[in-house]
Amino acid sequence: MKKRSILLNGLAVLAGVTAVLFIAASPHEEIEIHKQDWSFQGFFGKFDQAQLKRGFQVYHEVCSACHSAKLLAYRNLSQPGGPGLSEDEVKQIAASVQITDGPNDAGDMFDRPGKPSDAFKSPFPNEQAARAANNGALPPDMSLLARSRAGKGFLGYEGADYIYAILTGYEEPPAGFHLQDGMNYNKAFKGHQIGMPQPLTDGAVTFADGAPNDLKSEAKDVAAFLTWAGEPNLEARHRTGLKAVLFLVAFTLMFYAIKRKVWAKIH
Ligand code: HEC
Repeated sequence: MKKRSILLNGLAVLAGVTAVLFIAASPHEEIEIHKQDWSFQGFFGKFDQAQLKRGFQVYHEVCSACHSAKLLAYRNLSQPGGPGLSEDEVKQIAASVQITDGPNDAGDMFDRPGKPSDAFKSPFPNEQAARAANNGALPPDMSLLARSRAGKGFLGYEGADYIYAILTGYEEPPAGFHLQDGMNYNKAFKGHQIGMPQPLTDGAVTFADGAPNDLKSEAKDVAAFLTWAGEPNLEARHRTGLKAVLFLVAFTLMFYAIKRKVWAKIH
């Protein structure tokens, strides 16, 4: 009797675990995210400054109407390894928004023009307002979007592949597909129904540098920008890491030479 109940319990646990694994795995089953070429993939990969600048333009003109990017500050746009905006451009962009600051000495909050040290201003004051304006769906914050959607890809370029796939994944729903009200069919989104209307089309943005602005180019540029946005200091960190490795190698060689010298007489 006892043995049997242990066996039954064991089977129940096994069934539970299988079910959980199955549920966890199933949303991804039918979705195939195609890999794109990115300048920043691989150990020696680097962001392409002109591409980041175009990507910021796409974010600024299109995505920022719905998506916040709270972990980015305007001054990140002019720091080394980023989109390479000049400090004047950054000042101008920051000054174009009104930031609520305070309280002042009278205890009141007040509005003032943005400064380069301010975080990107969010399009909605809170989550409820964001949902109310988007048919109940919440546009996720973009600071960490590329990283949170990245698999195990080095430098998170799988997150860039995902963003690119979503932006270029809008299609007519297949016959018989039940699309809920206010939803859009997207072959790259889990469940194929997404609350975001197609944000980019051919020619949606005209790039200051005259680069191609078909849908795919725009999607690639903004995906690159969002990957950088996930970790603006990545290149600086890699440079520091490389210096540390070089230092350790030099250190090891030096000690090896010393050791040989010290022990030379004893042997
Ligand atoms: C009109 C508002 C709106 C605009 C403009 C917009 N989005 Fe969205 N976006 C949304 C909403 C709402 C969702 C959440 C959709 C859902 O959960 O069904 C979303 C979701 C997404 C997702 C999927 C995130 C996930 O959860 O996996 C990506 C990627 C994305 N947006 C990228 C962009 C990019 C890049 C731009 C600019 C080119 C952009 N969006 C412009 C409203 C918008």
